[in-house]
Amino acid sequence: MSTVVLDNVTKVYPGGYLAVDRMNLRADDGELLVLLGPSGCGKSTLLRMIAGLEEITEGDLWLGGKIANHLAPRDRDVAMVFQNGALYPHRTVRGNLSFPLEIAKADPAMVRERVIELSKALHIDETLDRRPGTLSGGQRQRVAMGRAIVRQPSLFLMDEPLSNLDAGMRTELRMEISSLVRALGVTTIYVTHDQVEALTLADRIAIMNRGVLQDIGTPAQVYNDPATAFTAAFLSSQQLNLLGATVRTPQNQYILLDFGTHQITMPWTDPRAYAVSRHTGSMIIVGIRPDALAPMPEKMDGPCFMGRVRTLEYHGHEWLAYVEAGIPAMAVPEPPDPRAKNGNGNGNGGGRARSMMRRLLSSGEEFPAEEAAPQSQPGSGSHRRADLIVRLGARPFWKAGEHARVAVDVSRLMLFTQSGARIDPPRR
Ligand SMILES: Nc1ncnc2c1ncn2[C@@H]1O[C@H](COP(=O)(O)OP(=O)(O)O)[C@@H](O)[C@H]1O
Ligand SMILES: [Mg+2]
Repeated sequence: MSTVVLDNVTKVYPGGYLAVDRMNLRADDGELLVLLGPSGCGKSTLLRMIAGLEEITEGDLWLGGKIANHLAPRDRDVAMVFQNGALYPHRTVRGNLSFPLEIAKADPAMVRERVIELSKALHIDETLDRRPGTLSGGQRQRVAMGRAIVRQPSLFLMDEPLSNLDAGMRTELRMEISSLVRALGVTTIYVTHDQVEALTLADRIAIMNRGVLQDIGTPAQVYNDPATAFTAAFLSSQQLNLLGATVRTPQNQYILLDFGTHQITMPWTDPRAYAVSRHTGSMIIVGIRPDALAPMPEKMDGPCFMGRVRTLEYHGHEWLAYVEAGIPAMAVPEPPDPRAKNGNGNGNGGGRARSMMRRLLSSGEEFPAEEAAPQSQPGSGSHRRADLIVRLGARPFWKAGEHARVAVDVSRLMLFTQSGARIDPPRR
């Protein structure tokens, strides 16, 4: 049983790349903590520092209440599973599972019993006499997990263990990981770039971007009440609407969010009103999930945007509409570039280009719009116009080219400063 505490843990790679920036984090005894973030944000680096495979540049790591910065990996009582859990090809599944116990000179009767018990929990008891080469990808990953956990470590670390499996197998194994680690009660830190995996598996999720912790909380907390615009955008299943608005308080009667072509009012009775009013005269970022927007029925009044339907998109279980309303689009605010804080020899053009390329390449798959093609910067004056993305449900409701009134659920607007921090800080 073990707790993990990171106190200002920082990693600078040789050459000056700041991969993890002053990370503060705690995983409680028996907790399943998921580290979530786009590829290249420093998740593996963090996990490897906890395992002892990577040196900590600054800050402290505590394992089970003891400082562990300089403990050798084998003295940390930690087991780790990687994306391609490598197995011993010439040993059977049974031989793979029992190997860690054999080298620890465990009692053979106990080893036999433990291997059978674990293989049942992992649904590989039918494969015990087969070699890894004859197993499916999902079965191999189960064996890799079993082999890591067979010695009952106090801390279980998993680095994207499902990302090489097909979608069906991922879902199945996800459920089993969840029940296995909970049944064993072993503290687990699980790394993924997949927000669905994080939401479905975690007791709590820690979201990272560019080496910086963005948010931490239960899945419901970080989804419904995100601390930063990055978290809100990264956890959205459809693309989050991020709009620029200037805060006004005309005659102090109410709050006006001025989107230029449109205004939305917020009464003083809104719980966020006071916090927002402190930004009077400034531009803020308003995040709206597509399901907080809806077609406004005729003859109804209320907060709404007017626009023209540019296109409709069919997603099987729902339609999405892209509506032009002339509202400024905002980019997802990012932490400063990792290299900017480390001037030691990497400030030259070559280093910059390489790091930029690395970031673009690595971020392309999960988070393309904001990283690869920056939109207008907050406060830069000339703004690209947003398409409002509206979730329509099972019927398309509008036709392309049609005039549209879009109802806004004001209670679900998420309000951020230009640096991406929530204006009405969530309670954690
Ligand atoms: N050994 C290394 N030397 C220099 N830079 C590295 C090294 N390992 C990783 N990096 C860089 O650190 C950043 C974080 O990498 P990593 O922790 O692997 O991210 P993730 O697991 O979130 O995809 C990336 O930009 C990566 O290129
Ligand atoms: Mg990684």
